[in-house]
Amino acid sequence: MSPSQISILTSSMLSRLTLDRNFWLSIRFYASAKQWSQRQRNDQFVKKATVDNYRARSAFKLVELNDKHRFLKKGYICIDCGASPGGWSQVASRKVFRKVKAGEERKPTDGCVVAIDLLPINPIPGVEILQKDFTHISTQNAIKKILDNRKVNVVLSDMAPSFTGNHAVDHARIMNLCESALGFAETVLRKGGTFVCKFLMGGTERDFKLLLQSKFGKVYHEKPASSRKESTEGFFVCMNYLGEKEEQAEEIEEDIDYY
Ligand SMILES: C[S@@+](CC[C@H](N)C(=O)[O-])C[C@H]1O[C@@H](n2cnc3c(N)ncnc32)[C@H](O)[C@@H]1O
Repeated sequence: MSPSQISILTSSMLSRLTLDRNFWLSIRFYASAKQWSQRQRNDQFVKKATVDNYRARSAFKLVELNDKHRFLKKGYICIDCGASPGGWSQVASRKVFRKVKAGEERKPTDGCVVAIDLLPINPIPGVEILQKDFTHISTQNAIKKILDNRKVNVVLSDMAPSFTGNHAVDHARIMNLCESALGFAETVLRKGGTFVCKFLMGGTERDFKLLLQSKFGKVYHEKPASSRKESTEGFFVCMNYLGEKEEQAEEIEEDIDYY
């Protein structure tokens, strides 16, 4: 066989291999898309989301967490980080908004929800929406501008990065988002406030829980029924924020003065 014949043969074998690879990739994609649509059809929370007019089945995770711990109350101020398509913001607004008469403006005491996401969120009546990267300081300043010096009752984070399929990487990325949300929460939460965040199990969540326990009176590790069993996601519900370090120091001094 001449060198040119060998080269033609090699390139034809290579293109055949590429074709085969694309073929098997399409089969895999088709199979997992089919599995996904089957799972969606049989999922009770997908059905319930349609009935209850929620944009996403994820809404029920917040419904369950709140049913258990009751941290969303009328008139509260709530920040929803990683809010698209808007399921959690729908739940939060239904819980914290007081009814306002038609034509009347919403007062600061009528409840407030600020929703932030990299992706667009279709409008939800009364909810302030920011399409920005939450981790940027400019975004956090934009939220504080909306707050206008008001302290927040609840900071929620359902933020999740685009998953790579490498669990260690995905775990590290989501824990970074948790830390970013916690850092922000510490600057806006009122004493006694609540912080809720989603994480993926992977090891470092244990240290993160210890950190949370140093800042909140109670920290619960939750896995709501609506969170898929096969998913390693979990939620920390942190209640009774102890306040910023300075606030705590001031309080100790006040106590000393008093006695
Ligand atoms: C699981 S979804 C949230 C679902 C939402 N809670 C609901 O009920 O509709 C996670 C969201 O986190 C968002 N996200 C990830 N990183 C973010 C970041 N740095 N800033 C803002 N949003 C982010 C993603 O764009 C995605 O929409």
